[in-house]
Amino acid sequence: MRTVYYTATSLDGFIATPDHSLEWLFTRDQDPASPFGWDAFEPRVGASVMGANTYQWLLDNAPGEVSSGPAWVLTHRSFPPRDGVTFTADPVARVHRELREAAGEQDIWVVGGGALAGEFAAAGLLDEIVVSIAPVTLGSGTPLLPHHVELSLRETGRNRDFVCARYAVLSSG
Ligand SMILES: NC(=O)c1ccc[n+]([C@@H]2O[C@H](COP(=O)([O-])OP(=O)(O)OC[C@H]3O[C@@H](n4cnc5c(N)ncnc54)[C@H](OP(=O)(O)O)[C@@H]3O)[C@@H](O)[C@H]2O)c1
Repeated sequence: MRTVYYTATSLDGFIATPDHSLEWLFTRDQDPASPFGWDAFEPRVGASVMGANTYQWLLDNAPGEVSSGPAWVLTHRSFPPRDGVTFTADPVARVHRELREAAGEQDIWVVGGGALAGEFAAAGLLDEIVVSIAPVTLGSGTPLLPHHVELSLRETGRNRDFVCARYAVLSSG
Protein backbone atom coordinates (compact mmCIF):
# COMPACT_ATOMS: atom_id res chain seq x y z
CA MET A 1 0.00 0.00 0.00
CA ARG A 2 1.39 3.36 -1.04
CA THR A 3 0.05 6.87 -0.82
CA VAL A 4 0.54 8.44 -4.24
CA TYR A 5 0.02 11.96 -5.50
CA TYR A 6 -0.77 11.14 -9.15
CA THR A 7 -1.44 14.20 -11.24
CA ALA A 8 -0.76 16.16 -14.39
CA THR A 9 0.98 19.50 -14.40
CA SER A 10 1.98 22.28 -16.74
CA LEU A 11 5.71 22.64 -17.37
CA ASP A 12 5.76 25.62 -14.98
CA GLY A 13 4.15 23.68 -12.15
CA PHE A 14 0.43 24.42 -12.17
CA ILE A 15 -2.32 21.80 -12.00
CA ALA A 16 -5.14 24.18 -12.96
CA THR A 17 -5.55 27.73 -14.22
CA PRO A 18 -6.64 30.43 -11.73
CA ASP A 19 -10.27 29.81 -12.77
CA HIS A 20 -9.86 26.02 -12.30
CA SER A 21 -9.81 25.18 -16.00
CA LEU A 22 -8.16 21.92 -17.13
CA GLU A 23 -8.67 22.53 -20.84
CA TRP A 24 -4.89 22.88 -21.28
CA LEU A 25 -4.69 19.26 -20.07
CA PHE A 26 -7.57 17.52 -21.79
CA THR A 27 -6.72 18.95 -25.22
CA ARG A 28 -3.36 17.07 -25.19
CA ASP A 29 -2.78 13.66 -26.67
CA GLN A 30 -2.26 10.79 -24.21
CA ASP A 31 -2.73 7.05 -24.14
CA PRO A 32 -4.61 5.78 -21.06
CA ALA A 33 -3.04 2.35 -21.60
CA SER A 34 0.57 3.58 -21.42
CA PRO A 35 2.60 2.59 -18.30
CA PHE A 36 2.00 6.05 -16.77
CA GLY A 37 -1.62 6.21 -17.96
CA TRP A 38 -4.87 6.01 -16.04
CA ASP A 39 -5.57 2.39 -17.03
CA ALA A 40 -2.38 1.25 -15.30
CA PHE A 41 -2.88 3.40 -12.21
CA GLU A 42 -6.61 3.10 -11.54
CA PRO A 43 -6.79 -0.65 -10.71
CA ARG A 44 -4.28 -0.12 -7.87
CA VAL A 45 -6.39 2.58 -6.20
CA GLY A 46 -8.34 1.50 -3.12
CA ALA A 47 -9.31 4.91 -1.76
CA SER A 48 -8.75 8.54 -2.66
CA VAL A 49 -8.59 11.94 -1.03
CA MET A 50 -9.03 15.44 -2.43
CA GLY A 51 -9.67 19.04 -1.47
CA ALA A 52 -12.91 20.95 -1.86
CA ASN A 53 -11.99 22.72 -5.10
CA THR A 54 -11.06 19.47 -6.80
CA TYR A 55 -14.34 17.91 -5.66
CA GLN A 56 -16.25 20.96 -6.87
CA TRP A 57 -14.51 20.68 -10.25
CA LEU A 58 -15.67 17.07 -10.49
CA LEU A 59 -19.23 18.02 -9.57
CA ASP A 60 -19.19 20.72 -12.25
CA ASN A 61 -17.42 18.80 -15.02
CA ALA A 62 -17.70 15.04 -14.42
CA PRO A 63 -20.46 14.52 -11.85
CA GLY A 64 -20.62 10.74 -12.38
CA GLU A 65 -16.91 10.22 -11.76
CA VAL A 66 -15.95 11.24 -8.26
CA SER A 67 -13.40 8.49 -7.87
CA SER A 68 -12.82 4.78 -8.01
CA GLY A 69 -13.52 3.41 -4.54
CA PRO A 70 -14.38 5.42 -1.47
CA ALA A 71 -13.30 9.06 -1.43
CA TRP A 72 -12.53 11.55 1.34
CA VAL A 73 -13.02 15.26 0.69
CA LEU A 74 -11.17 17.68 2.98
CA THR A 75 -13.42 20.68 3.41
CA HIS A 76 -15.12 23.15 5.71
CA ARG A 77 -18.01 23.50 3.24
CA SER A 78 -21.38 21.76 3.31
CA PHE A 79 -21.66 19.57 0.24
CA PRO A 80 -24.75 17.43 -0.35
CA PRO A 81 -24.23 13.92 1.07
CA ARG A 82 -23.07 11.32 -1.43
CA ASP A 83 -22.62 7.53 -1.21
CA GLY A 84 -18.97 6.57 -0.86
CA VAL A 85 -17.82 10.11 -0.11
CA THR A 86 -16.77 11.30 3.37
CA PHE A 87 -16.59 15.05 3.94
CA THR A 88 -14.26 15.99 6.76
CA ALA A 89 -12.04 18.70 8.21
CA ASP A 90 -10.17 16.24 10.44
CA PRO A 91 -6.35 16.37 10.60
CA VAL A 92 -4.74 14.55 7.68
CA ALA A 93 -3.16 11.94 9.99
CA ARG A 94 -6.62 10.85 11.13
CA VAL A 95 -7.96 10.93 7.58
CA HIS A 96 -4.99 8.85 6.45
CA ARG A 97 -5.80 6.15 9.01
CA GLU A 98 -9.32 5.93 7.57
CA LEU A 99 -7.96 5.86 4.03
CA ARG A 100 -5.56 3.01 4.92
CA GLU A 101 -8.36 1.02 6.47
CA ALA A 102 -10.51 1.48 3.36
CA ALA A 103 -7.72 0.83 0.86
CA GLY A 104 -6.34 -2.36 2.46
CA GLU A 105 -3.51 -3.56 0.23
CA GLN A 106 -4.46 -1.10 -2.50
CA ASP A 107 -2.92 2.34 -2.96
CA ILE A 108 -4.27 5.64 -1.69
CA TRP A 109 -4.62 8.26 -4.40
CA VAL A 110 -4.05 11.87 -3.36
CA VAL A 111 -5.99 13.53 -6.17
CA GLY A 112 -5.08 17.12 -5.28
CA GLY A 113 -4.75 19.98 -4.93
CA GLY A 114 -1.09 20.59 -4.31
CA ALA A 115 -1.40 22.13 -0.86
CA LEU A 116 -3.28 19.07 0.35
CA ALA A 117 -0.60 16.78 -1.12
CA GLY A 118 1.91 18.96 0.74
CA GLU A 119 0.02 18.45 4.00
CA PHE A 120 0.32 14.68 3.56
CA ALA A 121 4.02 15.01 2.72
CA ALA A 122 4.66 17.25 5.75
CA ALA A 123 2.99 14.64 7.95
CA GLY A 124 5.27 11.94 6.50
CA LEU A 125 2.31 10.26 4.86
CA LEU A 126 3.13 10.61 1.16
CA ASP A 127 5.18 7.85 -0.49
CA GLU A 128 5.25 8.78 -4.18
CA ILE A 129 4.59 11.55 -6.64
CA VAL A 130 3.73 10.62 -10.21
CA VAL A 131 3.50 13.52 -12.63
CA SER A 132 2.64 13.83 -16.29
CA ILE A 133 3.99 17.11 -17.61
CA ALA A 134 1.93 18.75 -20.35
CA PRO A 135 3.71 20.74 -23.09
CA VAL A 136 2.41 24.10 -21.93
CA THR A 137 3.20 26.86 -19.47
CA LEU A 138 0.28 28.62 -17.77
CA GLY A 139 2.03 31.47 -15.95
CA SER A 140 -0.31 31.25 -12.97
CA GLY A 141 -2.82 28.92 -11.38
CA THR A 142 -3.00 26.40 -8.57
CA PRO A 143 0.45 25.03 -7.76
CA LEU A 144 1.60 21.44 -8.18
CA LEU A 145 3.10 21.23 -4.69
CA PRO A 146 3.78 24.43 -2.74
CA HIS A 147 6.02 22.78 -0.15
CA HIS A 148 9.66 21.74 0.12
CA VAL A 149 9.71 18.00 -0.53
CA GLU A 150 12.91 16.03 -1.19
CA LEU A 151 12.43 13.41 -3.90
CA SER A 152 14.28 10.58 -5.56
CA LEU A 153 13.63 9.97 -9.26
CA ARG A 154 12.62 6.33 -9.75
CA GLU A 155 11.18 6.08 -13.25
CA THR A 156 10.69 8.18 -16.37
CA GLY A 157 8.67 7.74 -19.51
CA ARG A 158 6.73 9.38 -22.28
CA ASN A 159 2.99 9.24 -22.81
CA ARG A 160 2.52 10.83 -26.24
CA ASP A 161 2.42 14.62 -25.49
CA PHE A 162 3.51 14.16 -21.86
CA VAL A 163 6.83 13.62 -20.10
CA CYS A 164 6.13 11.38 -17.13
CA ALA A 165 8.09 10.77 -13.94
CA ARG A 166 7.69 8.77 -10.76
CA TYR A 167 9.42 9.99 -7.61
CA ALA A 168 9.78 8.49 -4.16
CA VAL A 169 9.26 11.00 -1.35
CA LEU A 170 12.37 11.14 0.87
CA SER A 171 11.44 13.88 3.32
CA SER A 172 9.50 17.10 3.65
CA GLY A 173 10.80 20.27 5.24
N1 LIG B 1 -4.00 18.62 -13.18
C1 LIG B 1 -4.60 17.65 -12.52
O1 LIG B 1 -4.40 16.47 -12.82
C2 LIG B 1 -5.47 18.00 -11.36
C3 LIG B 1 -5.67 17.05 -10.35
C4 LIG B 1 -6.45 17.40 -9.26
C5 LIG B 1 -7.03 18.66 -9.19
N2 LIG B 1 -6.84 19.53 -10.21
C6 LIG B 1 -7.44 20.87 -10.16
O2 LIG B 1 -6.58 21.65 -9.37
C7 LIG B 1 -7.35 22.57 -8.60
C8 LIG B 1 -7.03 22.32 -7.14
O3 LIG B 1 -7.53 23.33 -6.39
P1 LIG B 1 -6.79 23.83 -5.07
O4 LIG B 1 -5.35 23.95 -5.34
O5 LIG B 1 -7.55 25.00 -4.59
O6 LIG B 1 -6.91 22.62 -4.07
P2 LIG B 1 -8.04 21.68 -3.40
O7 LIG B 1 -7.26 20.90 -2.42
O8 LIG B 1 -8.83 20.95 -4.40
O9 LIG B 1 -9.02 22.68 -2.64
C9 LIG B 1 -8.56 23.50 -1.61
C10 LIG B 1 -9.66 23.71 -0.60
O10 LIG B 1 -10.01 22.46 0.02
C11 LIG B 1 -10.27 22.65 1.41
N3 LIG B 1 -9.22 21.98 2.16
C12 LIG B 1 -7.98 21.62 1.72
N4 LIG B 1 -7.28 21.04 2.70
C13 LIG B 1 -8.07 21.01 3.79
C14 LIG B 1 -7.91 20.50 5.11
N5 LIG B 1 -6.79 19.93 5.53
N6 LIG B 1 -8.97 20.64 5.98
C15 LIG B 1 -10.13 21.20 5.57
N7 LIG B 1 -10.34 21.70 4.33
C16 LIG B 1 -9.32 21.59 3.44
C17 LIG B 1 -10.23 24.17 1.61
O11 LIG B 1 -11.52 24.70 1.23
P3 LIG B 1 -12.72 24.98 2.28
O12 LIG B 1 -12.07 25.41 3.59
O13 LIG B 1 -13.49 26.06 1.60
O14 LIG B 1 -13.48 23.71 2.39
C18 LIG B 1 -9.26 24.61 0.53
O15 LIG B 1 -9.38 25.98 0.18
C19 LIG B 1 -8.81 22.32 -8.95
O16 LIG B 1 -9.19 23.20 -9.98
C20 LIG B 1 -8.79 20.90 -9.51
O17 LIG B 1 -9.81 20.67 -10.43
C21 LIG B 1 -6.06 19.23 -11.27
